[in-house]
Parts: sequence; C-alpha cells; structure tokens
Amino acid sequence: MGGELALELVKKYGSESIIATDINPRAQQSLDFCQFEELDVLDITKLEDVIVENNITQVYHLAAILSANGEADPIRTWNINMQSLLNVLDIAKKYGLRIFWPSSIAVFGLGSPQYATPQNPPMVPETIYGISKQSGENWCNYYASRYGVDVRSVRYPGLIGYKTLPGGGTTDYAVDIFHKALQGEHFKCYLTEETELPMMYMPDAVKAAISIMDVPQDKLRIRTAYNISGMSFTPSEIYQEIRKTYADFSISFTPDHRQQIANSWPRTIDDTRAKMDWNWKPSFNLEAMVLDMLAHLPKTAIH
Ligand code: SER
Repeated sequence: MGGELALELVKKYGSESIIATDINPRAQQSLDFCQFEELDVLDITKLEDVIVENNITQVYHLAAILSANGEADPIRTWNINMQSLLNVLDIAKKYGLRIFWPSSIAVFGLGSPQYATPQNPPMVPETIYGISKQSGENWCNYYASRYGVDVRSVRYPGLIGYKTLPGGGTTDYAVDIFHKALQGEHFKCYLTEETELPMMYMPDAVKAAISIMDVPQDKLRIRTAYNISGMSFTPSEIYQEIRKTYADFSISFTPDHRQQIANSWPRTIDDTRAKMDWNWKPSFNLEAMVLDMLAHLPKTAIH
C-alpha cells in the first residue's frame, strides 16, 4: 500500500514534502516520484533523525508482517509489529506528530459476530498478527488519552491493488487470481469457494488513510481504530466476475492453513461509526473493482 499512498500524498502536498522509507534500498526504484530514505522501523535513532532533520509533521506507519506470514515466527512478528509502533508513538509524543497506523479485521476472532461485525464486539484474535493489531489499537488509544498523541487508525479488510504483489496475508488470493487470469493459467485457490471476506480496492484504502488524517481531531471519537468496509465477496463470486472478461479462466479450491484464519474473520463489517464521524464512503464494489483491475493490470510492471 505504501507506494500508492505516497503517490497520492505527492499529488496533494508535492514531492519535496513526502519521504518514503523502506528497509530494502531497492524499494527506491519504484518510489522515484518522492524522496526516499532507507530505514529499519526498529531503528529508533535513525527514525528520529529522519523526522527531525526533515521537519516531518505526519507519519503513516504501515510496516508490518501480515497474518499468514506472521504465523511462521510469532515472536518475530510481535517484535516487529509492536516495537515499530511503540517507536513511532514515542517519537510522536516527543515532537507532537500526527500518526496514521493501520489496524486490521484480524483483530476479530471466532467469538465476534461474523455478519455486520460491530465496532466493539468480543475480540479474541486467532493470529499473532491480529493480537499485535489489537494490542496496537490499545496502545494508540492509551497514547491519545494519556499524552494527547494525535494517532488515527482504521481496521483494513483485505486490500486489492494492481501495482504490487501482496505480501503474506490471508486475503492475498484476491490479488493472485487476477495474475493467473491474465497469464491464461489455472488458479488454485487456498480458500473454499464460499469463504466470504471483507475486501477493499486500493484507491479506497488510500482515500480512507488520507481522509481520516484530514479530519479535525475533535470529530474522532474512536482512538483505537475505526471499522471501515468496502465490499465482501467469496472466491467463487470474484471468479465469476473475472470470467465475464476471461471466459476460459478455470479455478479449483484446495484449502490450506489460511482457511482456518479466514474462518475466524468477519464476513461483513458494520462501519457506521466511520460514516458518522468522518463521512467514510467507499467508491468501489466488486464489479467496479474487477473492471478497473483488468483495465490496469496488463499495463503494469509488478515489482
Ligand atoms: N490483508 C491482511 C491479511 O490478510 C488483513 O489485514 O493479513
């Protein structure tokens, strides 16, 4: 998501005002439209240097290990996801920064209602990623109420975009499926055909981040993270939508360990509070998203 967000921020504020960072120096190649710093989010000294030297006032802290990859090494996932957030929050407290930090639908668990999942149901996350996001939400709320840190957050569903390949999430199939369709290959889906999950098209995800950062602070009554919704669909529904363009495209379903994670997540999300407090409204449904993906993907070099 970082590259697409940085691009929109450059359009809004100009390239001299935006610095993208990544632990991998090669990321700079795809971020040539703004400034770039190589940065490990766990390196608090360098993080502070970059912020102070460049008079940074707002930080979008997106770096994290996602749900499926996170299960391979839970302690490492916890350390990276939590310590990086604590570093950012502490620097925000010191310099009065405004922070965006994404949470996720992974904060919910088997005990949460699966349809129209409300803002604050019982939440016992099943993945270490979900545990880190839920704890992170509480840290954000704590820094906001105890120190007045202006930190803002939304619970993203699965994000779908054409500019980058997904990185280790449970919802990645909804991006992979487009690549297979375009390459004329069979798609083996790792979830069952009826596994409905909340999803969002990347332009809506970027819009959510920028619009929650623009809202006057007194409108934000939730300082953990807002539920936001885009669309919900099953593997079978997205497949049928793609087949309207690629009639010969074929699919089979072989659930793996990610099925268990998906089973613990909501099917649909109630985002009433985001609508009320900062006028959240997504632009893309399943049909519009599929058409836009199929229009752009063939022209896009994937990094
Ligand atoms: N897309 C993410 C994942 O699957 C959800 O936050 O891990």
